[in-house]
Amino acid sequence: MNKETGGKGGIPPLLVLLVIPACWYVFLKFIIPRLTAPLPSSLIFMYMALCTAVTFLYQTIFKDTSERFFGPIASFLGRGEGESIAKTAARWIVLIIIPLAAGKYVLGVVTPSSEAPLEQRVMHPAPPIEFVGTNNPFGDYDHWKDGDVLTGKGLFMAMCSPCHGPKLDGNGPEANGFNPRPANFMSSDTIVQLQNGFVFWRVKKGGPGLPIESMPWKSVMPRWETRLSDDLIWKITMWEYKGSNHKPRTWE
Ligand code: HEC
Repeated sequence: MNKETGGKGGIPPLLVLLVIPACWYVFLKFIIPRLTAPLPSSLIFMYMALCTAVTFLYQTIFKDTSERFFGPIASFLGRGEGESIAKTAARWIVLIIIPLAAGKYVLGVVTPSSEAPLEQRVMHPAPPIEFVGTNNPFGDYDHWKDGDVLTGKGLFMAMCSPCHGPKLDGNGPEANGFNPRPANFMSSDTIVQLQNGFVFWRVKKGGPGLPIESMPWKSVMPRWETRLSDDLIWKITMWEYKGSNHKPRTWE
């Protein structure tokens, strides 16, 4: 550190308190990465805090240096005889603006935001590899048996309709409480677009099975594998298609 800062003359101590940490910052942030790897910003922050504290201690530990350090601050804050209006104004500006700005900043940090994030969630992410091209063990759409579809319908009414609606339109009695909303199987942008295996995957693994790109809002779609066998899940997906007059998408 600069020896002169302690004595008369030299750089004003307050300036030193700014300049030394600033030099460290430049060194840690821009020079170090060229020599090795960039440092995490939390580490840089810690170094900076430490360096500022040490500089401050050094500046204030002796009587004469501490007078030079605090002198300008005291004369700025204290009211002198015949003080100019500019100085009084400057003092009040500092005393009012800085606390206000700090308050505004803290408020901004602690207030949770209820606004939807800008990015759109991915509605139909790529399914895990083991579900790609999975085929319904009960055969193609044209071969589905009425009895199986009916079993699926019963289960759908009991377990899915509170959210997805008895008419499969995504308007069940519970639907309004959720974001994202339960899927509307009548519309042209859900199951018609999807292959059998995809729908099976979604019912089996539910919201918890969705990959990260379908966040940040969490889907409440339950993970039905905990309650339903694979066969029953297939039968429910059959009702989703029959009941909405759609056919599963097939490999073109
Ligand atoms: C607690 C409410 C709730 C229940 C009960 C529920 N779901 Fe869902 N479901 C959702 C929500 C919300 C979504 C939309 C978000 C998502 O894709 O996970 C969804 C999405 C889906 C999707 C994906 C549609 C697409 O386009 O990707 C399928 C398929 C589905 N549900 C089927 C079912 C079936 C079958 C049942 C009953 C066994 C069921 N759901 C029960 C809330 C529910």
